Amino acid sequence: MRISLVQGDITEQHVDAIVNAANSSLLGGGGVDGAIHRKGGPEILEECRRLRASHYGGGLPTGQAVATTAGRLPARWVIHTVGPVYSASEDRSDQLASCYRESLRVADELGVETIAFPAVSAGVYGWPLDDAARIAVGAVRAAQTKVEDARFVLFTPDVFAAFEKALER
Ligand code: APR
Repeated sequence: MRISLVQGDITEQHVDAIVNAANSSLLGGGGVDGAIHRKGGPEILEECRRLRASHYGGGLPTGQAVATTAGRLPARWVIHTVGPVYSASEDRSDQLASCYRESLRVADELGVETIAFPAVSAGVYGWPLDDAARIAVGAVRAAQTKVEDARFVLFTPDVFAAFEKALER
């Protein structure tokens, strides 16, 4: 699998699947979540609501992933995953790694060949950038997946630099 970095807006990526840093309600939010729903249009939220009504009554648990249409985005699917909120006292690293592993598992079920990831938990959920990047790159590198091209799409130079460092390791 090829892993690359892009500095930019994940909603503009022409890939099979765009991964959303969602919250467990699946009903939208700010950051990546806000951008994806705003640009992807109401179909995404409609499908998220159906998922809540059927399989995820209590919301999507942290570390899990589920796919919906990508609506008007230049992708076929959005894979929503819920990152852990950073905690200095509790090590939630494996929950964060699970977001990437589970997103790739869902991607494989769909036959996805190209995927774009944001820096899950590195925004509102407060995960320190270098550690978020280390966990993300490590999880994607270690995954057994048929995805051919994985790109991390970083919105700001500081996050881009953190992922560059993590990739060099
Ligand atoms: N494209 C790519 N990356 C983006 C974009 C975008 N359009 N918008 C924001 N980001 C970056 C942020 O700068 C940060 O580096 O995505 C990273 C993740 O930040 P958040 O979107 O805040 O995600 P997270 O930290 O996982 O928090 C999730 O925030 O928006 C709410 O509903 C969401 O409750 C959930 C929480």
